[in-house]
Amino acid sequence: MSFSQKYHPLLTVDKDTGEQESLQCRDPRKRRSLLVIAVIIIMFTSLPFVHMIRSRGFWGACHGSQRNSSTLAKLPSHYTLPSGDNIPSVALGVWQAGKGEVGNAVKTALTAGYRHIDGAWIYCNEEEVGQALKTSSIPCEELWLTSKLWNTFHAPEDIETALDQSLSMLGTNYLDLYLIHWGSYSPTCASCLFRTRPVAFKTCTTILDGDLTADPYPTWQKLEELVDKGKIRYIVISNFNTRRIKNLTANNLKYQPAVNQVELNFWNPQPELLKLSKENGLLLEAYSPLGSDKQVGKSLSVPEVKSITSKLRITPAQVIISWSIQRSTIVLPKSITPSRITENLEVFELPQEDFERLEKAATSHTPQRVVNLSAGWKLPFDVFDGQ
Ligand SMILES: NC(=O)c1ccc[n+]([C@@H]2O[C@H](COP(=O)([O-])OP(=O)(O)OC[C@H]3O[C@@H](n4cnc5c(N)ncnc54)[C@H](OP(=O)(O)O)[C@@H]3O)[C@@H](O)[C@H]2O)c1
Ligand SMILES: *[C@@H]1O[C@H](CO)[C@@H](O)[C@H](O)[C@H]1NC(C)=O
Ligand SMILES: *[C@@H]1O[C@H](CO)[C@@H](O)[C@H](O)[C@H]1NC(C)=O
Ligand SMILES: *[C@@H]1O[C@H](CO)[C@@H](O)[C@H](O)[C@H]1NC(C)=O
Repeated sequence: MSFSQKYHPLLTVDKDTGEQESLQCRDPRKRRSLLVIAVIIIMFTSLPFVHMIRSRGFWGACHGSQRNSSTLAKLPSHYTLPSGDNIPSVALGVWQAGKGEVGNAVKTALTAGYRHIDGAWIYCNEEEVGQALKTSSIPCEELWLTSKLWNTFHAPEDIETALDQSLSMLGTNYLDLYLIHWGSYSPTCASCLFRTRPVAFKTCTTILDGDLTADPYPTWQKLEELVDKGKIRYIVISNFNTRRIKNLTANNLKYQPAVNQVELNFWNPQPELLKLSKENGLLLEAYSPLGSDKQVGKSLSVPEVKSITSKLRITPAQVIISWSIQRSTIVLPKSITPSRITENLEVFELPQEDFERLEKAATSHTPQRVVNLSAGWKLPFDVFDGQ
């Protein structure tokens, strides 16, 4: 199955709600006055090219033997980026995977066949992720490693230091994907807690960088330099709505965004953004695909999910992850539970009628974000829409 996408600019920015508590990593540079609170208004456009072709999957069949999935087709294990690189369609998410948990989760995932890890500096666990990667024998070239540039480091002069810190903690010389985490909204670190190290940080204030929020192009240009330096393979946007995508891509970019990582799940399926992204060749990554820790139980109990679960004899999480891949998105399920980590990679194609039933149910109710940091950051505006 393949499809081509054009770029479209609709994305809404999401905030990680759950990140509220763990949002405070230590500022690798000093506390400059930069902390900014801002939302990003920016970007969007129509990126010209990009076709994504889903390739065949190669994990699919390997695991679940006791289920009767013999009649289900495998799903694509990879998507092809415009560059020709194949990026795995499922990644292990590690937000809220804590100290003493995340390393084992990563090791379990690599053993199960995952080759794509979705992390971030703000998750405060990159050191342990790095240790786990180090003990695995998987060559770097086989891995797709993601980190994210936290909001406080969007000023061009701060970016390389922040990136270097992630690289050093992860024990690598380059990242496959480096995301602008939340546009340029920058809550300043407050009583920063760097969980992987016994260091306490000062309480900071929150300041909005209005300029970089309105126009993130300077951030992007610096990231392009870091691509040229070999420290980043693909620059990625996250939580960008269509307007921001258009605004960013209206610049004469040296490198187009390869992917846009946004909240996509039963509660917030964003069909228009998905359609426009496909039309414009911009691959989407589905974060909080199961509804995050707050709503996972509710997601797994959706009547259509349960009904497809019994019909196909696969698990509710598998139904949702399969649906996400069939919507042509990369999917980033997070788990620290070994059986779930394995289960989440063991996915099969839903019959068309079941896919359509679930898609219809997902898009028939009022969309509701699971992750929305506007309130947590006390923003006077919706972080997904800019100031
Ligand atoms: N760019 C951004 O702003 C942004 C924002 C949010 C998330 N993300 C990324 O997306 C990833 C995933 O999102 P998320 O962590 O919010 O939530 P999620 O993957 O939707 O849900 C995670 C929750 O589901 C549970 N779970 C996982 N697999 C399960 C299964 N097979 N059966 C039952 N329960 C299961 C997990 O429990 P256990 O862990 O206890 O097993 C955890 O409580 C994040 O880790 C992060 O990498 C990015
Ligand atoms: C698995 O499904 C196939 C096709 O629906 C059916 O013929 C077969 O009997 C099932 N096997 C088991 C063990 O349920
Ligand atoms: C993006 O939006 C900002 C704020 O409105 C504006 O100053 C900037 O010129 C826009 N960029 C482009 C390339 O249109
Ligand atoms: C996010 O939360 C804010 C504050 O609660 C709300 O006003 C806004 O509508 C929410 N945004 C979305 C896209 O749900």
